[in-house]
Amino acid sequence: MKILITGASGMLGYNLWQVLFIEHEIYGLGKSDCPDFIKRDKWLQLDLTNPTETYQTVTNVNPELVIHAAALTNVDNCELNPEKAYLNNTLATRNVALACQRFDSAMLYISADYVFAGEKNTPYREDDMPNPINTYGKTKYNGEFYVRHLLNKFYIIRTAWLFGERKKNFVSAIVEQIKLAKQQTSKQVNEIRIVADQIGSPTYTKDLALAISDLIKKNLYGLYHLTNANSASHYQIAEEISNFLGYKNKILPISQIELNRPARRPQYSVLDNYNWRIQGFKHLRDWKEALQEYLLEV
Ligand SMILES: NC(=O)c1ccc[n+]([C@@H]2O[C@H](COP(=O)([O-])OP(=O)(O)OC[C@H]3O[C@@H](n4cnc5c(N)ncnc54)[C@H](OP(=O)(O)O)[C@@H]3O)[C@@H](O)[C@H]2O)c1
Repeated sequence: MKILITGASGMLGYNLWQVLFIEHEIYGLGKSDCPDFIKRDKWLQLDLTNPTETYQTVTNVNPELVIHAAALTNVDNCELNPEKAYLNNTLATRNVALACQRFDSAMLYISADYVFAGEKNTPYREDDMPNPINTYGKTKYNGEFYVRHLLNKFYIIRTAWLFGERKKNFVSAIVEQIKLAKQQTSKQVNEIRIVADQIGSPTYTKDLALAISDLIKKNLYGLYHLTNANSASHYQIAEEISNFLGYKNKILPISQIELNRPARRPQYSVLDNYNWRIQGFKHLRDWKEALQEYLLEV
């Protein structure tokens, strides 16, 4: 299949490329220059906020499927720059969908757990009503709206709390803090303080890319929640990492309020992979097992 991946130089984009290029003809698209793992003749450098260029570029490639993973993913920056976030996350998604509409290409849009408010205390299913509480979540949800309304052949994948090799992420940030603390003498040691009152579904980009590769073979369009199994707080993840790295000092649990970040986060955004599960797809492994593999890689 001819597939175009937007955001191909990003964290998930990298794993999508690694998994899909073996069986498919893949083109990558991003705002920056061609990354080292993609051949130049397969790279399209483009800002998706430009509707005309997006339309021309996508229709020139004429892919059977566009996997749209490009987005502004820094949640606090989105909160501080809502217009930029809306342009890049919502309207750029509309631009991609309009181009797909022209040649009846299928589109797979990567959305997020932050479309939910986080007021439940049981995992969110695909039929739960989104009600985002921050700009990032709103712009991702509005992107879903365009995909649903402009296209017949689409997948919307809501995922969460991604960690992967290619880019800095919340797991790599905790790893860095712990490694730094291990090098310090007992007098120097700064306390490691990690948020404990936000629960989500940590997901390894490698596992997500493999699951997407399975899904697109089946043409079973629709809305999917797709994450590694089971849930955790960042604090629980930090404890797991500190055990792996043999860090002996205590990590302090703190609340979200203490961090005073620009964007509110949903307190509970665990995703039940319901549609995935009941259709008999192989469930993604436990996040702890995925984390162990990730830690061996980095
Ligand atoms: N990270 C998470 O925890 C998380 C959680 C849930 C859902 N998601 C969703 O999963 C997807 C992948 O996330 P990620 O963390 O892998 O992303 P990432 O590493 O931040 O990469 C995003 C990519 O999007 C590209 N991009 C952004 N704006 C663009 C534009 N206007 N035109 C063209 N390219 C543009 C960037 O290209 P340049 O580098 O060239 O600018 C970047 O390579 C996103 O849709 C995100 O919303 C992520």
